[in-house]
Amino acid sequence: MSAQAPILSSPLLQRVQSTLEAAGGWLPFDAFMQMALYEPGLGYYARDTVKLGAMPRDGSDFVTAPEMSPWFGRTLARQVAQALQATGTTEVWEFGAGTGALAQQVLGALALPDGAASAGGPLLQKYHIVELSADLRQRQQQRLQAMAPALAERVVWEDRLPERMAGVLLANEVLDAMPVKLLVRKAGVWHERGVGWVGSSAEAAGQHVPAGLVWQDRPTALRPPVDIPGNHDYLTEIHPHAEAFMRTLGDCWVQGAGFFIDYGFPESEYYHPQRSAGTLMCHRAHRADDQPLADVGHKDITAHVNFTGVALAAQEAGLDVLGYCSQGRFLINCGLLDHTEPLSLAERAQLARLVNEHEMGELFKVLTVAPRTAGQADWVPLGHAVGDRTHTL
Ligand SMILES: C[S@@+](CC[C@H](N)C(=O)[O-])C[C@H]1O[C@@H](n2cnc3c(N)ncnc32)[C@H](O)[C@@H]1O
Repeated sequence: MSAQAPILSSPLLQRVQSTLEAAGGWLPFDAFMQMALYEPGLGYYARDTVKLGAMPRDGSDFVTAPEMSPWFGRTLARQVAQALQATGTTEVWEFGAGTGALAQQVLGALALPDGAASAGGPLLQKYHIVELSADLRQRQQQRLQAMAPALAERVVWEDRLPERMAGVLLANEVLDAMPVKLLVRKAGVWHERGVGWVGSSAEAAGQHVPAGLVWQDRPTALRPPVDIPGNHDYLTEIHPHAEAFMRTLGDCWVQGAGFFIDYGFPESEYYHPQRSAGTLMCHRAHRADDQPLADVGHKDITAHVNFTGVALAAQEAGLDVLGYCSQGRFLINCGLLDHTEPLSLAERAQLARLVNEHEMGELFKVLTVAPRTAGQADWVPLGHAVGDRTHTL
């Protein structure tokens, strides 16, 4: 369907409309976002489109660090190697692997002579991928099965988590893709912002109102996790799905360390009184907009991560926080800039975007958590050796 096609001709919108009707005419935004992104066969991530890539000309909508530079995954691999050794684990679990770029980079780097062997054999025996999107899973399979057989055969796709999971967890830009709830304070009263449907027959002051989705706010007892000083109108998000995800990990993860990389802030910054328009954003053809109810299913919808909330949920689930810092600091600590081989100007420019403060270096953070495992040695993750900011959470 082209972006210009009439709104009702979209099967996804028809599905949203019937879900809305069944729900009495109102859906909380997280339920809508879940459908817009993940509705089987129809949602943005479920559809057979390019989605992730470096440039709009390749048909993609946004770029992520592993799509930008292979040095992202190659550098992260040093952290993975240290974590595997320090926690006595031999498996990686990657969540939301996108096109498989990060998996390819990490596997490739760990297969290099200095990354492959520890005293007891290969450091990394299995690379598990947990991916919600059937389309992306297929793209990952095409890409990773083309690697050398010794690497390709270590990759497995999982539909669910095991009862006991041990290994190093990776999730790059996954928490930001989990549905959020919207809260809006209007004239001093908190509402939950949800989605309703206005039929094409509606007429307002003689003007035709096209059929489609509309914002609808309902008074709520829900609140942001911190008080927002002032009485001004204020729109923000809360993140029950990302927090539930950490609790799910806590239920089965017994050994290892996990690295969660994403854009976001601690709650004092997230819920700053001046951040009164929230962080919800859409991405299409490498352009951002703030209209998630338009072109549903044809663009990514995302919100920044409240890292304090994620860290607290992790702790409540029996996990420890091992570190929190900017992506720039993390990658530099892991040796991103210690290249011995010459890089081209283009490669150096891509690499700089990963760490420059005005690009991905500061907005993106790395949160590292680990199960509270008796007998797991105390260790400091390489990426958090200098400049850690756990105290800001
Ligand atoms: C913004 S993309 C990032 C892709 C990739 N990690 C990268 O950096 O290029 C978000 C990815 O997370 C996946 N995803 C979202 N929620 C998930 C969940 N609960 N479990 C596993 N994958 C999830 C999406 O299908 C998608 O592959």
